[in-house]
Amino acid sequence: MLIVVEHPLIQHKLTLIRKKETGTKDFRENLDEIAGLMAYEITRDLPTQEIEIETPLQKCSTRELAREIVLVPILRAGLGMVDGITNLIPTAKVGHIGLYRDHITLEPMNYYAKFPGNIDEAVIMVLDPMLATGGSASSAINTLKDEGACHIKLVCIVGSPEGVQRIKNDHPDVDIYLASLDEGLNELGYIVPGLGDAGDRLFGTK
Ligand code: PRP
Ligand code: URA
Repeated sequence: MLIVVEHPLIQHKLTLIRKKETGTKDFRENLDEIAGLMAYEITRDLPTQEIEIETPLQKCSTRELAREIVLVPILRAGLGMVDGITNLIPTAKVGHIGLYRDHITLEPMNYYAKFPGNIDEAVIMVLDPMLATGGSASSAINTLKDEGACHIKLVCIVGSPEGVQRIKNDHPDVDIYLASLDEGLNELGYIVPGLGDAGDRLFGTK
């Protein structure tokens, strides 16, 4: 399923990070804030369980999250979404997947993977601002499934129809969350209108 989270605050902040004149500081802050705002929607269907507690007045049964949450940012740009979400879910664990897209073939190249234990039980949120061809996200999800993960959500900021279709084909069990579904890809595999190279804008490397 594709869910486009169209809250006005998200759309406003997305406009800021799309603008070419937005510098590293504002890009970083707004990307994180968008991820945080999306967290409400991403977590809407998390399972809860009933527990018995005591308030200062009496016993009561109430609910708490039933599953551990693991965030898995795809390096590098996914790192820019972690703090926004851990502000709301401070107990979330964080794994990492290192991937870069070969500039000629656009194929994802793996260089790192490290996850907490028990990811088979956890709800996994794969984070990457850009879903372009979908190759990187699909490869990251394959890696997680090979490790036993089975409750996976893909959280991106800007996506292309091509990337969404790729994930629907490769991983029909994975829900996709976007702040915007853009027009498509240009001849270099960049999302248009998009926001440029997310990693470079986030880390000031260009
Ligand atoms: C970007 C982006 C995604 C990937 C998307 O990363 O952050 O991981 O490209 O493209 P795809 O959907 O076509 O695979 P990049 O390869 O530029 O690496 P970086 O984050 O280290 O700059
Ligand atoms: N990676 C990016 O950072 N931006 C795009 O538009 C496509 C891939």
